[in-house]
Amino acid sequence: MTKFTEVKASTYDEMSREAAKIIFDDLKAKKDTVLGLATGSTPEGMYDALSTMINEADLDLSEVTTFNLDEYVGLDEDNDQSYHYFMDKNLFSKIDVPKENIHILNGVADNIEKEVKEYEALIDEKGIDIQVLGIGRNGHIAFNEPGTSFDSLTHRVQLTDETIEDNARFFEKKEDVPTEALSMGLATIMKAKKIILLISGANKQEARDLFVSGEVSEDVPVSILHNHPNVILLTDSEARGE
Ligand code: PGA
Repeated sequence: MTKFTEVKASTYDEMSREAAKIIFDDLKAKKDTVLGLATGSTPEGMYDALSTMINEADLDLSEVTTFNLDEYVGLDEDNDQSYHYFMDKNLFSKIDVPKENIHILNGVADNIEKEVKEYEALIDEKGIDIQVLGIGRNGHIAFNEPGTSFDSLTHRVQLTDETIEDNARFFEKKEDVPTEALSMGLATIMKAKKIILLISGANKQEARDLFVSGEVSEDVPVSILHNHPNVILLTDSEARGE
């Protein structure tokens, strides 16, 4: 097991600021940084802090490229539950990354096979410098549910009931939650040079403990990160059960 670094923040806000600082420092050091980005409740505070830091420093992002982890199948970018919409609202409307440098899987592509292949190829071409990850209660990362092959590349996935239930809070009713998504695979995520994993809240304590225990198994997708040389785990005290 590779030893990862754990940044032990006390509050969600502190965790968010620490994570934002790591990304901000990378952006400052390398003008053409390639960012891997995540959606969900967890990174919202980080995006807020990061956009403030970028704007206060008037940082030039004209050479920055981004790739998002995943998108629901069947939701177009104008749907307010799509991850396109989430990213625009939480980050891209606040900072100046050129539109053509922003990459998010197209969940309404006519040819899904082509969409996922081209996405993977583009990631191979550009290379991701720093990838942000959240985690599901079942240990999923992106939409890679338990049992997903460690060799998986960008692919179409069926969501588990647990994930559909967790995500139902964003929709009017559970039946509205899409049952399929497109997602970077676990092998795709492992290609990133550096990974920051954010775990916040008491409902994620079990997932955090499972990861920290160090057991590596395809039943726990996040555990693949133990095979990565550069992982920073950021937690708040609730996620650590303190
Ligand atoms: P959350 O989702 O940040 O909304 O809890 C994280 C995830 O399921 O990956």
